[in-house]
Amino acid sequence: MIISILVGGVLLVVLAVALPVLFGPPYLPTLQPNLKTALDMLDLQPGQTLLDLGSGDGRVLQAAAQRGWQAVGIELSPVLVLVARIRTWKYRKQVRVLWGNYFRRTWPPADAIFGFVIPYQMEQLSGRIEAWHTKPVKLASFAFQIPGKRPAKEKQGVFLYEYK
Ligand SMILES: C[S@@+](CC[C@H](N)C(=O)[O-])C[C@H]1O[C@@H](n2cnc3c(N)ncnc32)[C@H](O)[C@@H]1O
Repeated sequence: MIISILVGGVLLVVLAVALPVLFGPPYLPTLQPNLKTALDMLDLQPGQTLLDLGSGDGRVLQAAAQRGWQAVGIELSPVLVLVARIRTWKYRKQVRVLWGNYFRRTWPPADAIFGFVIPYQMEQLSGRIEAWHTKPVKLASFAFQIPGKRPAKEKQGVFLYEYK
């Protein structure tokens, strides 16, 4: 009985982390050196807001908060939402983790965006940024480029795009 509950629980967690693959990238955390590069490139001031599309375990949100930034993540997996909320608890006045699909949820105002997404979504993502932003905003995309759009900078696998 206990074994069945344990196995069921583990399966549920695995499913909750794996199912977002149907809607976008799998859970694959950005490594710290690349994350540092991306945040350095975005170069926000304390108090400005970073939006992380698919915020995973919350490491991007945590690193942003450590720089004095506000950070909002949108994440499809409820398990990862919980993990990120626990991870960023210390910074709860600066960090929000929203549960949902980043193509369906309304995006909050932000000064910059971080994304470690998936190639087939890059064009749609860029169109969404164009339609959403009301002031200049930067996107740091780890690993993947936007087809047909020239990055303002590129370093260590991070592509920086500017929307004016
Ligand atoms: C490659 S991981 C990146 C995680 C984190 N941003 C980082 O860099 O460490 C992508 C994340 O996006 C989530 N995801 C996939 N499709 C999504 C969607 N349509 N809406 C919201 N989150 C999604 C996955 O669950 C996963 O946690």
